[in-house]
Order: sequence, then C-alpha cells, then structure tokens
Amino acid sequence: MSSCPLLTLNCGVQMPALGFGVFLIDAARTAEAVNTALRSGYRLIDTAAVYDNEAEVAEGIRRSNIPRSEIFITTKLWVGDHGRDRTLRAFERSLSRLKTTYVDMYMIHWPDPAEWKKTVESWKALIELMKEGRIRCAGVCNHNEENLEMLYQHSGVVPAVNQVELHPFFQQRSLRAFHRQKGIVTQAWSPLGGVRGYVGKAREVVRDVHSHPVLKGIGEKYGKSPAQVVLRWHMQEGVAANPKSMHPERIRANLQVFDFELSEEDMTAIRGLDTGVRGGDDPQSVDAGTYPWHGEE
Ligand SMILES: NC(=O)c1ccc[n+]([C@@H]2O[C@H](COP(=O)([O-])OP(=O)(O)OC[C@H]3O[C@@H](n4cnc5c(N)ncnc54)[C@H](OP(=O)(O)O)[C@@H]3O)[C@@H](O)[C@H]2O)c1
Repeated sequence: MSSCPLLTLNCGVQMPALGFGVFLIDAARTAEAVNTALRSGYRLIDTAAVYDNEAEVAEGIRRSNIPRSEIFITTKLWVGDHGRDRTLRAFERSLSRLKTTYVDMYMIHWPDPAEWKKTVESWKALIELMKEGRIRCAGVCNHNEENLEMLYQHSGVVPAVNQVELHPFFQQRSLRAFHRQKGIVTQAWSPLGGVRGYVGKAREVVRDVHSHPVLKGIGEKYGKSPAQVVLRWHMQEGVAANPKSMHPERIRANLQVFDFELSEEDMTAIRGLDTGVRGGDDPQSVDAGTYPWHGEE
C-alpha cells in the first residue's frame, strides 16, 4: 500500500489527506474502531465534543501503542459552547477526555449566524489557544464564503481547514474555489454520502454511493469498490476526507486508495453526479437551539 499523502496547512502543519471519522460510533465500539484504524495506517482521528466519544478515542490511541506525536487529533467545539469563556472551558474538557496536552486541529463545529458575535469570540479564543501552543491549528466546519470572510476580518487569521458536507452528489465546487483562493484546505464530511443514513426518511431519496451504477462501473475497471473510487476521487480533487466505518474490513479497505489513479474521463464522470442538493442541514439555519446540547457538566 502506498502511504497517505500529507497536506500542508496555512498554519505550517502537515495533515493526512485521509482520516478516520468517529461520528455515530457508539462509545462501546469507538476504542476498538480507533485502534483498528491506527493499526491499519490511519494517522488522523476526527472526533468532536458532541460525539460523546473523546475518552474512547483516547483509549483507542492508548491500545494502538502508536506515539501521540505521530497521530493528528481533530476535535470540535459545539455550537452550544460559543463565546470566549465557554470555548476555553469546552476546550479544557475535550483535552482532559482525550488525555492529551494539545490537539492538532480544533474546529468550530457550526457557525451560529443568529449570534455571529459569539462565533467570532470563539474563533478568537481558538487563536489564543493556538498562540499558546495548545492547539496546532485552528479550523472551522460548515462555514460559507461570507462566514469565512467575517472571521478573517475580525481576527486577521484565515482558518486552516473548512470541513463541509461533500460527496459525489454534493460537490461544493464554488466553495472549494473560494477555499483555493484563500489557502484553506477543504475537508469532506460524509465523504461517502453517509449523511443520507441519519437525517430521516425525507432525505433517503439522495442517491447511494455504494450501489450507484456509474461508481460501480468505474470500480470494476480498477478492481475497487465504489467507496474506494469515491475516496480516490476526493484525493485527486485535492479534498481531504474522513470516512467513518464500524467494520474492520471496511476501515482497512477505505485506506486502500493510494495504489491506483482514476483517469480524467472517470473523474469527469464522477463530477457529473453532482445534484447540488445537500443531505444534511443548511449551516446557515443552524443555531444553538437546533441541537440543544452543550458540554457543561
Ligand atoms: N463537521 C461536521 O459537521 C460533520 C458532520 C458529519 C460528519 N462529520 C465527520 O465526518 C465523518 C464521516 O461522515 P459520516 O459518518 O457522516 O459519513 P461517511 O463516512 O460518508 O459514511 C459512513 C457510512 O458509510 C458506511 N461505510 C463506510 N465505509 C464503507 C464501505 N467501504 N462500504 C460500504 N459502506 C461503508 C458506514 O457504515 P458502517 O459504519 O456500518 O461500516 C456508514 O454508514 C464522521 O465520522 C465525522 O468525523 C463531520
């Protein structure tokens, strides 16, 4: 297996292009899934305070026996914890659950357009943490062009990464072009379109990566599964991706994407699958009341 490329971020840090996501892996199975992922070769683990499995991520890292310095840990600040002081407290809680002295990437999980001032306060708190060396990079998720501009205008700091819904059926081409202009790395959440599985029946019409005839047909040419084709497509598009699986054989297979290259014709065919329709929430409509959770004990 050729190894996973590293992307250089605007904070000077290198981040693996392919990571392992742990959303919706219940706590009892998280440690073993993380251990399997690390032993299979993943070096980035993507969690969040709201996933409620940071402590189990730490246990998976411990079981793997891989030195902390070789692992890139991403965690995220929940929207219910916006504002400077709450952010700093939420960070301490994440750090203590993760049993580490720093995180590689700390992200604002959702912007709160209704309370933008608090989102900016959180962003500034992340910058403080970065200056103190407690986080190596500051990033965001689910931000649009306007949100990203606002963060920059209020702080002079451009997020290193914007993690957004992105898969063959929702490709976010204009946001990605904006990221390129600003030196922001695009990272895909639901890179395999997993969101269709947990947003309720109404959205199940969104097409399925694993059974799509175009993706299956391309996979047959290379001896790869549709999931591997899609992850390879992300890599060739210059998009970082964090697929999630609870199954060891899928965890391993999802990393086997560095030993083949999609032709330009196949890349074009996948680009043609974009529907422009997201499966998850529109970030501009999310606020602290959408998912009333905060980490305060
Ligand atoms: N920042 C955000 O707002 C945000 C939002 C959502 C997700 N995320 C991050 O992105 C990560 C991935 O997103 P996601 O979990 O929504 O979706 P995903 O990775 O696109 O898809 C996960 C789904 O695909 C299945 N799967 C994985 N590999 C497969 C394979 N090789 N063959 C067949 N099925 C396969 C998994 O099932 P099994 O587990 O049963 O294998 C699961 O149902 C999350 O874990 C999280 O870290 C971030």
